[in-house]
Amino acid sequence: MQKLSIHGGVPLSGEVRVAGAKNAALPILAASLLSAAPLRVANVPNLNDVRTMIELLKRMGVKAKVQPHAVELDASSVDEPVAPYELVKTMRASILALGPLTARFGEARVSLPGGCAIGERPVDLHIKGLEAMGAKIAIEAGYIHATAKRLQGARIFMDTVTVTGTENLMMAACLAQGETVLENAAREPEVVDLARCLIAMGARIRGEGTDVIVIEGVHKLHGAEHAVMPDRIEAGTFLAAAAATRGHVRLAEAPVASLDAVIDKLREAGATVKTAARSIEISMRGRPRAVGLRTAPYPGFPTDMQAQFIALNCVAEGTAFVTETIFENRFMHVQELRRLGAHIEVEGNTAMVQGIESLAGATVMATDLRASASLVIAALVATGETVVDRIYHLDRGYEKIEARLAELGARIARVS
Ligand code: EPZ
Repeated sequence: MQKLSIHGGVPLSGEVRVAGAKNAALPILAASLLSAAPLRVANVPNLNDVRTMIELLKRMGVKAKVQPHAVELDASSVDEPVAPYELVKTMRASILALGPLTARFGEARVSLPGGCAIGERPVDLHIKGLEAMGAKIAIEAGYIHATAKRLQGARIFMDTVTVTGTENLMMAACLAQGETVLENAAREPEVVDLARCLIAMGARIRGEGTDVIVIEGVHKLHGAEHAVMPDRIEAGTFLAAAAATRGHVRLAEAPVASLDAVIDKLREAGATVKTAARSIEISMRGRPRAVGLRTAPYPGFPTDMQAQFIALNCVAEGTAFVTETIFENRFMHVQELRRLGAHIEVEGNTAMVQGIESLAGATVMATDLRASASLVIAALVATGETVVDRIYHLDRGYEKIEARLAELGARIARVS
């Protein structure tokens, strides 16, 4: 089992390039199922989840030409519209195959994703939306079995904002007969990036980035080329690490426009943040100030940055209240941060973080992707050595994180 060994206390400094976005790459790769012509995707992050998605597509009969940060997908001979349990259990985002398969092949069998560390995470809105488009859906032996002659356009109101739900239904609607209107749709930048890729494939979509997306169905989509947007959560993680270590870091190829809420909070914490078209420079002189926050769907403060800001608040001046509104169980990192000496009380969906001068190294365990990022940030600040266990969680969403942090001066190494 691989672990990270980190000796804290070094202010991060230097430049790092932001990789492609995991949460844009996954739906974009799944979109290849919508066309018989090749989809070439560039700026693809080198991550375990991306490899799982490509493996899933190959199992269905998609031909994949994979290069370090690019992939060409040819779904002209899909013969097995099935997303098997053993892959879905490792990556919930496999659900993103459901919409495209049902729309193009009239049938799909996708293993029902179970709960996960951060919450129950049902997919009822994905299913309800497809049923509204005329799909027949049955749950058989733990699989969602969807069938439809041709999906029909529909007006779909989603009572909770769901990112992959919006993406699944938007993809399905591209090949439906007539117009589909998605109301209370997710406005996340990754949804917009997917829409841009679909439009490049010939889809008729408008309103992406707003809470009402309108899709005019077409008979078929053609091939296209698309470069995945940079990862705003990876960028935010580097910024929070720079602030917590009182460092000075420049991010190149950064998705500046999609980081307003995060940058606002970093400035509130006392960081100096300079932005340009595709870069962000941050420096933190002195001890950060405590910042309270409440997670919300985009453009609100991202839930995927909550854990990293709890780590930042652990060594800040003052007390912060952090409220998680998206997932019901997303404070698993708190118990581990307490092992480093952090003062955190949790009541319901709010954590009260009393900042202290410094943390002390210990062995901690990662429980999910963003929780592991918060433990890495805390370890970069702590005195002595911290060992972070179960870093396979980290590898799902961060490409070679220890090498890139080491380039910024961190004393970090992967140990078996
Ligand atoms: C996406 O997950 C991201 N994953 C998550 O990132 C992110 O945390 C989340 O959006 C919120 O921003 C990918 O894009 C692959 P949701 P998703 O559906 O789409 C409830 C990371 O760290 N809900 O927007 O699965 C749900 O339970 C990951 O990179 C229903 O009730 O999240 C949650 O409370 C973690 N019924 C809320 O909506 C449904 O059918 C938002 O979930 C669907 C969702």
